[in-house]
Amino acid sequence: MIIHPELLPGNLYAARPWWKNAVLYQVYPRSFQDTNGDGIGDLEGIIRRLDYLAGLGVDIVWISPIYRSPQADNGYDISDYRDIDPLFGDLEAFDALVSRAHDLGMRIVMDLVVNHTSIEHPWFVESASSACSARRDWYYWRDPRPGFTPGAPGAEPTNWESFFGGPAWEYDASTGQYYLHLFARAQPDLNWENPQVRDAVYEMMNWWLDRGVDGFRVDAIDVISKQPGLPDGGPARPPFGIGHECFADGPRLHEFLQEMHERTFAHHPGSFTVGEASNASPETALLFCDPKRREFNMLIQFEHVNLGLENGKFSPRHLAPGELTDVLTRWQDTLGTRGWNALYLENHDQPRSVSRFGDPSRYWYESATALATAYFLQRGTPFIYQGQEIGMLGGDFKTAADFRDVESMSYMERLGADEVPEGLATMSRDNGRTPMQWDSSPAAGFSETVPWIDVPASAEQINVAAQADDPQSILTYYRALISARHVIPALTDGTFTRIDASVPALFVYRRSAPGSDVLVMVNMSGEHHTPLFSSGDEAMASLPWRLYLGNTDTSFVKTDDAFDHIQSEPTVTTPMRPWEARVYLLTD
Ligand code: GLC
Ligand code: CA
Repeated sequence: MIIHPELLPGNLYAARPWWKNAVLYQVYPRSFQDTNGDGIGDLEGIIRRLDYLAGLGVDIVWISPIYRSPQADNGYDISDYRDIDPLFGDLEAFDALVSRAHDLGMRIVMDLVVNHTSIEHPWFVESASSACSARRDWYYWRDPRPGFTPGAPGAEPTNWESFFGGPAWEYDASTGQYYLHLFARAQPDLNWENPQVRDAVYEMMNWWLDRGVDGFRVDAIDVISKQPGLPDGGPARPPFGIGHECFADGPRLHEFLQEMHERTFAHHPGSFTVGEASNASPETALLFCDPKRREFNMLIQFEHVNLGLENGKFSPRHLAPGELTDVLTRWQDTLGTRGWNALYLENHDQPRSVSRFGDPSRYWYESATALATAYFLQRGTPFIYQGQEIGMLGGDFKTAADFRDVESMSYMERLGADEVPEGLATMSRDNGRTPMQWDSSPAAGFSETVPWIDVPASAEQINVAAQADDPQSILTYYRALISARHVIPALTDGTFTRIDASVPALFVYRRSAPGSDVLVMVNMSGEHHTPLFSSGDEAMASLPWRLYLGNTDTSFVKTDDAFDHIQSEPTVTTPMRPWEARVYLLTD
């Protein structure tokens, strides 16, 4: 690694709004740090690791759901929105966490899951209790399809498929109707058409904001408005199932989101909001994140992580060089200076990025740092998922019993075999859910006991303890990227311009603001490539760029005309090694 901190501006850049040069870190609480020896991470564990996060330079911590929940989908099935699940702690511990984080200069963002609740939520219990319950209309209840035996295949009110596979309807024999669940059976969809539902949601959101929470990551928000009349869906568009077009981006979606903003965030200026929208295109994303529309600050989109899944989520195809970066470029270009991107490669629903997009067996360090460089310095707010900063790999899934995720387990169940298909082993959401690897001890420093999900064998080499003080580590590299985000104006306010370097595998872009310029060059492949700039870009390439950061492990060795080896740093035209990444600053 080459790093020249002396080239960075000395002062923090005062961004407006504040989150424009903030770095977000996602904690999956179940897998972050266990402190009471039950093998499950907890709030006390997050508190214990806040210093680590502050030391990394993190500004915002998004915590995946910690509300009371039967844990059918690891907390994304909430049975009490105003309490902490005893698995993780209690409200007192939560308040302590928020106040400690604030002392360290970090903000806490909660996960808000309001497309659905748990089947154990009192609202649903009451709704299900009778066909004429006062809360019946809080959820979607429908009669069986005429002409079919209630409960038998085909009798579902529509042909919609759940995100986790299988029908999106569950038959309730006691009232003779079906309820809608776009996710797991234990996650019934709330009926957002009902104003009482919306009131209850907004009231709950304000309760948390008043308590000191700094904002929300809003789960599965683009499916809250369903097509009136609930029509049957047309052919599926993988990786989505049948019916997706009948509930994604529904007719009242933006009306609801503007109402949500008006009723909650508008009264808490400066709060942080990011929506999760599986269906968003760069064009529709602007509807959510153009500040004039008063909906969200930014959006978690799926287009780049869904690349190559045309044959289904668990049948990924190989991606061609440049495919990933071309999608990211289109998002940058379309959102332009009007919208704002949530920049990410990983989360608790995705496999580890170095495994999915990099080359962990031959170029683990290089590809992890190259991928980091590629996404982190684009226009938007970078998100780091726990363990990504040390290049964690996925889990070792050999039998059905190794999975914990409701989606993966249902898939294995439908398959009816014990042998794990390769596509599931590589794409399962459990890849992102293995315990955080703090050190090389048996449970990776995550727990004193056997964790709820196995620690991968790779934890012995890949862990925080091994990288914390290593000047050549992925962790050290991430720290350098984070510092850059905090002080370089171009990385906050600058425009994004993709620069053609003649080879699809070379991802080159420039960020420019008045008086501040950054050039990012990444070789997204395991081959050597020489950057060749078009005549239009030659002048740009000959500007006085100075290398701030590079991921080559030692000082670069270059051969001069006389074939003597001389030590020097790469210039913008130096051939790029496999997965090489460089960040240049313009100096005068
Ligand atoms: C989101 C969450 C995912 C969850 C789903 C249902 O996509 O990220 O983990 O299963 O919504 O809440
Ligand atoms: Ca615990």
